[in-house]
Amino acid sequence: MTTKNIIILTGAGISAESGIKTFRDAGGLWEDHPVEQVATPEGYAADPALVQRFYNLRRAALKDVKPNAAHIALATLQSEMIARGGDVMIVTQNVDDLHARGGAQNVVHMHGELKRVFCTACDHHMDCDDDISVETTCPACKTIGTTRPDIVWFGEIPYHMDAIERAIKTCDLFVSIGTSGAVYPAAGFVQIASHYGAKTLELNLEPSQGSYHFDETRLGKAGSIVPAWVEEILA
Ligand code: OAD
Repeated sequence: MTTKNIIILTGAGISAESGIKTFRDAGGLWEDHPVEQVATPEGYAADPALVQRFYNLRRAALKDVKPNAAHIALATLQSEMIARGGDVMIVTQNVDDLHARGGAQNVVHMHGELKRVFCTACDHHMDCDDDISVETTCPACKTIGTTRPDIVWFGEIPYHMDAIERAIKTCDLFVSIGTSGAVYPAAGFVQIASHYGAKTLELNLEPSQGSYHFDETRLGKAGSIVPAWVEEILA
C-alpha cells in the first residue's frame, strides 16, 4: 500500500537540538520553577505576574533559536506529499514556533503557543510578539489584567482534539517524534491509530513509555533520524 495520509505527532525532543530544553530533562523544573507554579491555572491565580514573566521570557527566547534539520525535513515531507495528492498533518505538543519557521503549514498546536495570548474575560485569542503584564488591556473588550498566555496548562483540555482524532482514524501512517509518551491525551494517539488500521512508527532518542504500542521504533537524535526517514518515504 502506498502511504498517502500521514499524521506526525511531535514533542520537546524535536526542538532539543535547536537548544530548547525538554521537560523531562529539566527534572520537573522549568527554568527553575516547579511545574505547578507556572503550568497550572492554580499557579496563575496565585501569582499572575510571575507566570506572565515566565512566559514573556520563553517567548523572547524564541528569537535566539532556529529550526533544525528535523523541522525542515518534516516541512519538505509535507509539501512533497501534498504535491503528490497526499496529506501530512503535523500535530505538536510544543509551544515554540519552530515547525512554522522550518516551513511547515497548518501546524496543529494542541498545547497552545508561546506567541499567542487570550483574554479570560471575553475569550478573545490573539497573536503576541511582546511581553504581557497584569496591566495589559484586552483590545477586544478593553478589560485590564485579563490577558494570559495561550498555553494549555495541566488540568486544561488540549486544543483541536476533535480534528486530531478524526484525522488519526483515517491516516495510513502515524509517526511520533521526540515525545516521552508521558502526557495524555497525546500519549494515547498511537493506540487509536493502530486500532483504526494505521501503521505506527516512533522516532525518539530512547524508547518512550508506550513504545511497545508502535509497529516500529527507530532510536537516535531527531536531527539525523528524521531527515533519513523522510528521504526513505519520498524515495
Ligand atoms: P518530554 O520532555 O517528556 O520528552 C522528550 C522526549 O524527547 C524524551 O523521550 C527524550 O528521550 C526525547 N529526546 C530528547 N532529545 C532528543 C533528540 N535530540 N532527538 C529525539 N528525541 C529526543 O517532552 P514531551 O513528550 O513533549 O505539556 O512532553 C509532553 C508534554 O509534557 C509537554 O507538551 C508539556 C509537558 O508537560 C504541556 O505543556 C501541557
